[in-house]
Amino acid sequence: MRSSLNIIDELKEYRQFANFQRVLEVTDNLILRESFYEGSFIHFIADLNRDVVWDLELVGNSLKDKKVDLTVLDLGCGDGRLTKFLNKNSITCYGLDYSEDQIKKARELQPKISRNFILGNVLDFEDFNKIVNDKDINVITTTAGTLNCFNDEQLDVLFSNLKKTFSNKREKQKGYLYFPVFSDESVNFFENNFKGSYSVHCFKDHNERDLIAWTSLLYDVSKKSLLQPTLISNVNEGELEHEFSFTIDRIWTTSEIITRAQSYGFKVSSIKKSEVKGGGAENAPFNLIIIEI
Ligand SMILES: C[S@@+](CC[C@H](N)C(=O)[O-])C[C@H]1O[C@@H](n2cnc3c(N)ncnc32)[C@H](O)[C@@H]1O
Repeated sequence: MRSSLNIIDELKEYRQFANFQRVLEVTDNLILRESFYEGSFIHFIADLNRDVVWDLELVGNSLKDKKVDLTVLDLGCGDGRLTKFLNKNSITCYGLDYSEDQIKKARELQPKISRNFILGNVLDFEDFNKIVNDKDINVITTTAGTLNCFNDEQLDVLFSNLKKTFSNKREKQKGYLYFPVFSDESVNFFENNFKGSYSVHCFKDHNERDLIAWTSLLYDVSKKSLLQPTLISNVNEGELEHEFSFTIDRIWTTSEIITRAQSYGFKVSSIKKSEVKGGGAENAPFNLIIIEI
């Protein structure tokens, strides 16, 4: 986990983010969030995903084609969009996330399946192994953004946890990964479009409070990462309040994930192209990579 001090130092590396640095210097009533998945940020992300279903359909339709009994784990389930979608489509799915705020929101939004949401860290072998065995999981999936939360080392931890867990599994049954990942070409779109300009989003939180987010996207070619500093502000009893966070998402592409999976001895069984129709990713297509483990 990055510390608040690291976050401020990392921000200083980018001249495009000078305005954010200034805000952090002069602002009172500021909460510095080390994770983009807590506090008001969870409502900001939910708002960005408001009408997006293509990524859910991409995974859901492919799972429906599978003729065996499925028990699915949604890695980094957030507020439960995919977990809910799969359960509604008669596929048993559990959601795992390490953000208490996200799990709380997921349980509140989906009271009928609130027990399907589990607080835990995917990168912690004990957490991961326990849930896969307890729930007899045979498919691991996720939505598009979650793999990008992991840096190089963390991606190795994930694959190594998968390898250990499934090779120790009681029933020794096969497992499948259904991972939506950016296509290799989509990186050109990132490079040409995410140059650090600022944009504003207005949204509401769970108490119907109006919030405003100032955000920016910059693709750093050398780090193969998408940077997103974001300041969320609102008025509380006449006082301006702010929350700030800065994510650095490693944008993993299809060929990188395939190479990594093969280095663990996993077999890629198919790659399906998505028809991206929303969510700001129209020009940066995804593939659904299906991997046997
Ligand atoms: C990009 S969001 C996607 C959320 C959700 N799947 C969706 O589509 O809205 C990534 C999620 O992964 C979670 N996450 C990141 N690293 C994690 C880890 N090591 N263990 C569990 N959850 C993690 C974050 O808390 C966040 O909710």
